[in-house]
Amino acid sequence: MNNSHIRLGINVDHVATVRNARGGTHPDPVRAAVAAIAAGADGITVHLREDRRHIVDTDLIRLKAAISAPINLEMAATPEMLAIALHLKPNAVCLVPEKRSEVTTEGGLDVASQLGTLKPFVATLCDAGIRVSLFVDADFSQLHAAHDAGATIVELHTGAYADAEDAHQRALELSRLREAARLTPSLGLECHAGHGLTFENVGPIAAIANIVELNIGHFLMGEAMFIGIQNSIVTMRTIMDSARMSGIRSERNG
Ligand code: PXP
Repeated sequence: MNNSHIRLGINVDHVATVRNARGGTHPDPVRAAVAAIAAGADGITVHLREDRRHIVDTDLIRLKAAISAPINLEMAATPEMLAIALHLKPNAVCLVPEKRSEVTTEGGLDVASQLGTLKPFVATLCDAGIRVSLFVDADFSQLHAAHDAGATIVELHTGAYADAEDAHQRALELSRLREAARLTPSLGLECHAGHGLTFENVGPIAAIANIVELNIGHFLMGEAMFIGIQNSIVTMRTIMDSARMSGIRSERNG
């Protein structure tokens, strides 16, 4: 496996959040997506929520028309979202747990307890040529369940690592993520990661060789307000690439 390149998917939901605060058309998340690709992003992630609090259905259609880079559609495993995904045919769908009352996706999907419903859901998406990712905590039982559900990819939830209260807790969460990522190839799963990543905390995650893609949104869009979207993404890319190269070097040196 060529693990020297780590892909960066940019989540533009929060541009839509700012737009929706005034109910108009500015700022446009599709324009942000085009700018993100121009700045070196490898793909665009959007989360179509049941309550449409940020991205809305017409954004998806405009996004598909505006970019040729891969679209990763985050969604809940509901019949409504399945119909939308089958119609839109994004490159990938990432199934996430969704609660109306949450501010953001709080934890990973409990694949193990929903295997019966997720398996046919995943199969329908795969049959339509869509890659299916499951957003899970760094927990071995969830990784085995993701494999049993027929997923192509697991995206490891990095929230507990990003929100760790002290260095000891952060090191523990990092080691759980490393172990989880280490298991994925033996289960035939591609490994992604995301949530809460920043310039300051992304390095150790990007250094994990089995992780092939990071999906990052909130921090980069916030930072774009100060330094612009291009600088925000280029800086993240530079930090990720340099962390990946040092990760590879330290693995080689044992
Ligand atoms: N990956 C998934 C599956 C998510 O739900 C989110 C948040 O929407 C992200 C990545 C990006 O997280 P953040 O906005 O904290 O960078």
